[in-house]
Amino acid sequence: MSILNVDKLVKEYASKRNVVITKALNGIDLKVDAGEFVGIMGPSGSGKTTLLNILSGIDKATSGSIKISGQDIATMTKDKLALFRRKHLGFVFQEFNLLDSLTVKENIMLLMILDKSEFSDIEKKSDRIN
Ligand SMILES: Nc1ncnc2c1ncn2[C@@H]1O[C@H](COP(=O)(O)OP(=O)(O)O)[C@@H](O)[C@H]1O
Ligand SMILES: [Mg+2]
Repeated sequence: MSILNVDKLVKEYASKRNVVITKALNGIDLKVDAGEFVGIMGPSGSGKTTLLNILSGIDKATSGSIKISGQDIATMTKDKLALFRRKHLGFVFQEFNLLDSLTVKENIMLLMILDKSEFSDIEKKSDRIN
């Protein structure tokens, strides 16, 4: 089974007064199988960041479906999506989005603390980064 199944994905950005509409994604179909490594290439402005933001549930598509391990993230509520992201997705941001006041280790621990993991588990996992 594919781990990611994207069907007819469309993303339109509207300007403030809906005067200009940019179609950043124009009906993308994409399948990724377990164990595959995929690179997405294209010139600046071709929609790579938009695609990744939508595939990871950070941004919403205008239309189309995205199934990750069979679960449709396009129709999930905000809360369900937040939990899904926390449990199943890893994302390396272009801008790091780490908390400056925390160490790298503490930034890693934060996610597990939010997930109410056992403290001994948190220690064990975050120690691997040293
Ligand atoms: N938040 C936004 N509001 C309006 N237009 C946007 C926004 N983000 C991206 N775009 C437009 O969508 C298109 C795709 O951008 P982007 O996904 O950033 O491309 P890439 O990452 O490949 O450079 C571009 O035309 C860009 O100007
Ligand atoms: Mg980009």
